[in-house]
Amino acid sequence: MSTGPTRTYFVKTYGCQMNVYDSERMGDALAGAGFGAADSPEDADLIILNTCHIREKAAQKVYSEIGRLAGIRRRRAEKGQKTLIGVAGCVAQAEGEEIIARAPAVDLVVGPQSFHRLPELVARAAGEPVVATDFPAEDKFNFLPAPSAKTIRARGVSAFVTVQEGCDKFCSFCVVPYTRGAESSRPVEKIVAEARRLVTAGVREITLLGQNVNAYHGQNAGGAPATLAELLGQLAQIDGLARLRYTTSHPRDMDDALIGAHRDIEQLMPYLHLPVQSGSDRVLKAMNRRHTRDFYLALIGRIRDARPDIALSGDFIVGFPGETDRDFAQTISLVSQIGYASAYSFKYSPRPGTPGAELAGQIDETLKADRLAELQAVIGKGRADFNRACHGQTLPVLFDRATKIAGKVSGRTPYNQTIIVTGGEDIRGEILPVALTMNGQNSLCGQIVVPQGARR
Ligand code: SAH
Ligand code: SF4
Ligand code: F3S
Repeated sequence: MSTGPTRTYFVKTYGCQMNVYDSERMGDALAGAGFGAADSPEDADLIILNTCHIREKAAQKVYSEIGRLAGIRRRRAEKGQKTLIGVAGCVAQAEGEEIIARAPAVDLVVGPQSFHRLPELVARAAGEPVVATDFPAEDKFNFLPAPSAKTIRARGVSAFVTVQEGCDKFCSFCVVPYTRGAESSRPVEKIVAEARRLVTAGVREITLLGQNVNAYHGQNAGGAPATLAELLGQLAQIDGLARLRYTTSHPRDMDDALIGAHRDIEQLMPYLHLPVQSGSDRVLKAMNRRHTRDFYLALIGRIRDARPDIALSGDFIVGFPGETDRDFAQTISLVSQIGYASAYSFKYSPRPGTPGAELAGQIDETLKADRLAELQAVIGKGRADFNRACHGQTLPVLFDRATKIAGKVSGRTPYNQTIIVTGGEDIRGEILPVALTMNGQNSLCGQIVVPQGARR
């Protein structure tokens, strides 16, 4: 029986994986208030941009996108349809009401710790602009309705779950401690319950998320703080949950128990994203990273002792204030020495309100671009070397995504390499052995080596 037209929403996501997860949870909050998901912003009564503030470019995108949405709103108004525009995420938190001053088309600004209040905020925003950017004492996760099994299935077999949020590290370049607030962890029991619900609906892989996920210290059943290793151990007991991953970690919080988990927990995939940012101690100090190059190298040594085949990934910033050619050469040498399977690299972007933006010795943009290109070439070579070492191996691949090409499905190896094979939609969610071969100079392709349907 129809209850009349439902209101619809559309969320566009920028930024990190936590924003992807938050966008899904905003959907859950809105579904609880009777909103349905629209396929495009043109069809939505409520359009939300879930934004990222990490670099200037990311933040600027928001304003050009708001301009585009204002156009959509005008066209909808001509058809007699009303549209609300909301800005959520880290730009919302960082800029608050300035957003409405600069972009009057915006009706609602909601920070990452307040989106569980969306239904109420949206109702208020229909009358006047609303800004909700406090860090409320209550835990938003206790207020978010659980998604239905149908919604979980539509989101796919690989899911994110936030277990920790915020950061107390205050690296001098980074806005995250200001946009996400202080470090906090969800209780073990709540996370396990969420994971069970996901697995019951067909999820096979869960990536635990946190800005500083290995600082996790949520309460266990006995009321004591649990480590991330303990949490992973609990999750590994869930039948049907084939793969576990976690991101992002800080080198200072990799404890022995977590390193041991990489040896002992079969479901924990041999892949670790462990950003170092620079190979120069001088720069690391100026960045307030609280670790040295040698500390990082020794740590990687211990992790490789526990799990020799682990694929390593990292983040790098080039052109931090005061970075000399010599400092940069040390980053290049660190990358070669470690042998990353993949890595992300960025030009330093001075962010308002962070100590780095005030430092003397800001680097010229062209020099940053040159250094970035040189670093990316070395990282690309490392990725190709890692892939080449997999040539001829047969690895279990979790098929998690359709592709745009008919008869091709996409999956990931334990090392997080994406592999596209010939196969039908029906293998989605299965883990099948795939024989890998190099596809050109850099990437891998493969062929399934067992009959389809043999679930493992
Ligand atoms: N919480 C994660 C990462 C946060 S942001 C962590 O601690 O590792 C992801 C990456 O963006 C960072 O690792 C860093 O390499 C990069 N980044 C952060 N602030 C930046 C800035 N101001 N300019 C350029 N890159 C930045
Ligand atoms: Fe930002 Fe540093 Fe915290 Fe990572 S550890 S979120 S880079 S302040
Ligand atoms: Fe961006 Fe906020 Fe994530 S600044 S990287 S969306 S934590």
